[in-house]
Amino acid sequence: MNQQESWREGMDSGLPKRVHLVEVGPRDGLQAESTFIPTDTKIELVNRLVGAGVRRIEAASFVSPKWIPQMADGAAVMAGIDREAGVSYAALTPNMRGLEAAIESKADEVVIFGAASEAFSLRNINCSITESIERFSPVARMAKTAGLRLRASISCSFGCPYQGPVSVDAVVDMVRRFRDLGCDEIDIADTIGVGTVHQVQRVVQAASREFPLASLAGHFHDTYGQALANIVGALQVGMSIFHASVGGLGGCPYAKGATGNVATEDLLYLLDGLGIETGIDLDAVVSIGDWVSQQMSRENGARAGKALIARRARN
Ligand code: HMG
Ligand code: MG
Repeated sequence: MNQQESWREGMDSGLPKRVHLVEVGPRDGLQAESTFIPTDTKIELVNRLVGAGVRRIEAASFVSPKWIPQMADGAAVMAGIDREAGVSYAALTPNMRGLEAAIESKADEVVIFGAASEAFSLRNINCSITESIERFSPVARMAKTAGLRLRASISCSFGCPYQGPVSVDAVVDMVRRFRDLGCDEIDIADTIGVGTVHQVQRVVQAASREFPLASLAGHFHDTYGQALANIVGALQVGMSIFHASVGGLGGCPYAKGATGNVATEDLLYLLDGLGIETGIDLDAVVSIGDWVSQQMSRENGARAGKALIARRARN
């Protein structure tokens, strides 16, 4: 029995036994990088993560290349990756044009993305919340007709960089609107990482009165260092889908100062300690985080990743 196993001995945490991890590094992680990352590197990143056991991955974003130049090669990335059976490759699709590109590229899941804050909606997708739902409506219909899984993301569920506080009601209102569009899954996103545990629990519980808890996902940026604590809080109220980014890569180009998502390595280390299954090989992800950080000449943002690399060097 290793040390982690001995901590768990005789404990029943009451937490979900399994977590579905959605790897967002190749999309959320890379989209804000100002230096263009070669398409081959993006392809290799997706393939390596799938090789480590990731079963759900955001691989591309079919948005305006003027707004997000880094994601301009989405079609080439989708065409270049190896497709493994049982893996869902997702793409962001803000409008019909994006959806058509996603269908063409054989995405398994498409993501429409709105916000619980009017100010953020205007900055991020250039329209009001009501206009965004009008825009998403044909996207949702066509995605369903094409047999794609439909996911929706609610930015600024815990605070907005332009507007400040965001009410629980504003999030719940978006949950209802996305539910009524026929979404299979809804992400509650902390775009700027300002949420804290009780707030997260309140929002998740309120959202779950409108949409099945098993299909609500937590998307936590770690700007204020709260992501792991918020994930534990969300687990305690029964959430079981979480997004993470290898090496803690990322940020949103329309949320200045926002840092990356919770690092996949840190989340896997936490879940492993809690005895929660993900099917993903932590050691393999640690190596990928190290590799991609070197490729991008940036510091590895995964705390557990860095610690495990240092341990490898000592042993
Ligand atoms: P717009 O300017 O209002 O719309 O953009 P438009 O229809 O007038 O199009 C403007 C130009 O973009 C046109 O080109 C279109 O052809 C082109 P031009 O005529 O000027 O040469 N265009 C496109 N090109 C390629 N693919 C498309 C597409 N659509 C239009 N699909 C739009 C509206 C939504 C397109 C724009 O505002 C946009 O692309 N925004 C990008 C937003 C984005 O990607 N943000 C980051 C992802 S969301 C995120 O990170 C949050 C999340 O992680 C959760 C969280 O943390 O909060 C999910
Ligand atoms: Mg994000």
